[in-house]
Amino acid sequence: MAATEAPRELIKQGAEALVYKTTYLLPTIPALLKHRPRKPYRHPTLDLRLTKHRCLSETRLLTRCRGLGIPVPAVYFVDEARGEIYMEWISGRSIREVLDAMIAEGRKEEVNDLMKKMGQVVAKLHQNDIVHGDLTTSNVMVRGERKSGLLAGATMEKVDAEVVLIDLGLGMMSTQEEDKAVDLYVLERAFLSTHPQAEDLFQDVLTAYEGSFKGAKAVMKRLADVRMRGRKRSMLG
Ligand SMILES: Nc1ncnc2c1ncn2[C@@H]1O[C@H](COP(=O)(O)OP(=O)(O)O)[C@@H](O)[C@H]1O
Ligand SMILES: [Mg+2]
Repeated sequence: MAATEAPRELIKQGAEALVYKTTYLLPTIPALLKHRPRKPYRHPTLDLRLTKHRCLSETRLLTRCRGLGIPVPAVYFVDEARGEIYMEWISGRSIREVLDAMIAEGRKEEVNDLMKKMGQVVAKLHQNDIVHGDLTTSNVMVRGERKSGLLAGATMEKVDAEVVLIDLGLGMMSTQEEDKAVDLYVLERAFLSTHPQAEDLFQDVLTAYEGSFKGAKAVMKRLADVRMRGRKRSMLG
């Protein structure tokens, strides 16, 4: 199989998967390979079933998102028995890194734009009853960040960064406000832990979210409960 013979470079070894940068079909087409290796301590039949299930579940969600116009990597090829998904390579950085850079450089307008897009993308996901399941700032990428050009003698910043969701391995379909609220909560925690003045930023995400679909208000209400439970839990240590 040509796809598997291409050179690959390991970029992340997680608990679940090995993630490689490679190419697909042509050496000029960069691709991401997510490989869930066999777990030798699991029963082989069960292991194969789990591997297949997770692979197909992630693929189905990615495909569904693409169909809905939610920005996620395109799936190129799946070999569920081997636990492999080849997908579109997203060139860019995580929103976590991009935010850090933008804040450090005082690029306030771009930050606002990014927060708004973030809220809109999550809203679109939830509006369609898709829950990400691991919505951290490492699982959101920013592509096409900052293009500047000369216009009428002045340097104009063209703000056209695009938010792309990755890592839907823990995602699922759900109509539950609770599940959607937990998505927001996980994102909020990720924001607050990585960006010192992030409270205001996250508020911009929520504002965009709230204005984007009908059910959003109920999810936000639920978020307040989830926060409360989180606080109680951390008080108990
Ligand atoms: N489609 C992609 N294009 C470019 N980089 C990616 C892509 N998918 C994942 N990555 C990079 O690989 C890392 C790990 O991938 P991810 O799907 O999040 O696996 P894990 O489940 O191990 O967190 C991401 O944090 C990101 O840096
Ligand atoms: Mg990840």
